Amino acid sequence: TLRMTEKEETMDISDNQDSAQSAKKNGRTSLLDSGEDFEVLNEEDIDDDPPPLEDAGGGKLKSEEQNGKENVDTDSDPSGPVEEWLDVLGNDQLKKKVLEPGKGRDSRPQKGQNVRIHLKSFLTDGTPVQEQRDLCFTLGDGDVIQALDLTVQLMEMEEKALIQTDAKYAYGTRGSVDPEVPPNAELSLEVELLEATDAPDLELLPPVEKIALASHKRERGNVHYQRGDYAFAINSYGIALQITESSSKVDISAEEEKELIDVKVKCLNNMAASQLKLDHYDAALKSCVSALAHQPENIKALFRMGKVLALQGEYTEAIQTLRKALKLEPSNKTIHAELSKLVKKHSEQRGAEQAMYKKMLGNPSSNSTQKHRAKSSWGLSWKWLFGATAVAIGGVALSVVIAARN
Ligand SMILES: *[C@@H]1O[C@H](CO)[C@@H](O)[C@H](O)[C@H]1NC(C)=O
Repeated sequence: TLRMTEKEETMDISDNQDSAQSAKKNGRTSLLDSGEDFEVLNEEDIDDDPPPLEDAGGGKLKSEEQNGKENVDTDSDPSGPVEEWLDVLGNDQLKKKVLEPGKGRDSRPQKGQNVRIHLKSFLTDGTPVQEQRDLCFTLGDGDVIQALDLTVQLMEMEEKALIQTDAKYAYGTRGSVDPEVPPNAELSLEVELLEATDAPDLELLPPVEKIALASHKRERGNVHYQRGDYAFAINSYGIALQITESSSKVDISAEEEKELIDVKVKCLNNMAASQLKLDHYDAALKSCVSALAHQPENIKALFRMGKVLALQGEYTEAIQTLRKALKLEPSNKTIHAELSKLVKKHSEQRGAEQAMYKKMLGNPSSNSTQKHRAKSSWGLSWKWLFGATAVAIGGVALSVVIAARN
C-alpha cells in the first residue's frame, strides 16, 4: 500500500492503470482487472451462448407490435414464460431476460450488499469481451458498469440472465482498453448470480481492510473520472470518504490512521477535480478546504484551490494560494504558469477597474471652462485677466523665494 501511496502522490488521477494492477496484486477484482480470467471462446461456443443482438432487434419489433403487453413483469413469476425481455428502464436501452430462473423473488440481493457473479460479456456481433467467474462488487456503489448495478438488483439467487445494454450503461462513447470495448458499443452480458452477503460492518473492519476498501472505491472514482463520468466519480469518492470517516471499534495504529487520512485527502482532491469539471465551484472549494484542514501543505489541494478561486474571480486569494503552493514546490512549471497567468489577469482586471473609476469620477478637463469663458462678457474677461496677471506675478514671486532658498 505504501508503494501505491508514493506513486499516486505524483500521478494524481491518471494512476488508473497502475491502481488496476495493484488491485490485481491485492487480490481484488473489478471489471477492469480481469485479464487473468479472460477466456477466448470459439466461434461455435458463441452460437449457443447469448443470442446476438438481432434478437434484441426482434424484441423491439415485438414490443412495438404488442403494445400494452410490454410491462409484463416476467421475472416476478419464475414459473411463467422466461423468454420475455424486461425493459428495465423503460427506454429500450437496458433489457433483461431470464435464462434460468433462480430461487424466487425473496432471494434478490439488496443494494449495498456484496454480490458475486459469473459474468460473460459479448459485443453484438458475438465477439467475446471478457469472462469473470467470480466478479465481486458492492451492489449499487458504481463499482461496475451501470448495466450490472441496475440489473443484478432484479436477479434472484442462482438465476442466469441475459442482459442487453446500450453503450450508455456500459462503456459509453469512449469505450475501454481493458476490457477491450470499442466506443459506443452495445453489449450482451450473460450473468449468473452466485452469492450475496451483507457488507462488512465498517466499525469492526480491521484498519488494513478499511484502508484497502476506501482505496478501492477511490480507484473506481478514478475510472469514472477518466471516462468523463464526473458525477459517478464524485459518488465513488464520496463512498470512499465515508469509509475513511467511519468510526472504529477496533484498535488502529498511528501509522494506519495516517494512511487513512492520506486516502481521505486524495479522495477530497480528486473530488474537487471532478466538481471543478462540473463547474461546481463552491463544492470544489469546500473539498479543497477539507483536504487542507488535514494537510495544510498539500500542493495538489493548494493548486486546485487556487484554480477554483481564480474561476470565482477571487484573484488576490487565488494568487496567495498559488504562491504558497509554489513555495513548497518551486520548480513546478505548471504552478508557475498558472500563477503568472493569474497575476497578469489580476493586473489587467485592476487596470480595467481604474479606468472605470476614472470614467465614473469624470475628468475635469479645461474644455467646458473654456467654452464658458468664451461666452462671458468683457467685464468678466477683464476681471479674469487681472486675476490671471495677479496669479502670474504671485508665481514669479514664489519661484524667486524658492530660488533664494536654494
Ligand atoms: C505540479 O503541480 C501540480 C499540482 O500539484 C501537479 O499536478 C503536477 O504534476 C506538478 N508537476 C510536476 C512537474 O511536478
